[in-house]
Formats: sequence, C-alpha cells, structure tokens
Amino acid sequence: MVFFRPVYTYLEADKKYHFCNCGKSEDGVLCDGSHKGTPLTPTKFTVKKSGNFYLCKCKKCYNGIFCDSNHTKKEKLTLDFEV
Ligand code: FES
Repeated sequence: MVFFRPVYTYLEADKKYHFCNCGKSEDGVLCDGSHKGTPLTPTKFTVKKSGNFYLCKCKKCYNGIFCDSNHTKKEKLTLDFEV
C-alpha cells in the first residue's frame, strides 16, 4: 500500500493559493494547471499567518487542504476503496 505523505511548505499570509484536487500537479499539492482536460478544479485558499504548513497529498484529509494524518490511517483508506 502506498502512502502519500504531506508536503511541508512555506505559505505567505493573505496570498491566494490554489490547492490541487486532481493529484496531477508536479508537487501534488499546489495547482500548476495540469488538471486541464479533467473535470476537477483547484480549491482557492489563503492562510492568515505566514509560516510552514503540511499540505495534504493523500487527498483524504477531512479539511481537504491541511494534513490531519489521515494518510497514516489504514481503516480510513480501506473504507474509501470499498465505496
Ligand atoms: S493541477 Fe491539480 S487541480 Fe490544478
């Protein structure tokens, strides 16, 4: 089983970012336009304070953008494959 670990990256306060929902972007977390031709689009987001953040790469975190360690939970991954 492959786990997609989060990407630790620096984000600037109030800057507009686009979170990749298709998983095809080069870093897997920030949109680079690679979703073109798919039905998926990025999610716009900002942070209130500049700093380093863990961004979700497994696409299974409940909040959708920031890692909540769901990539380490085998039960959650199994349920997702059964749906
Ligand atoms: S590259 Fe994945 S949503 Fe844009």
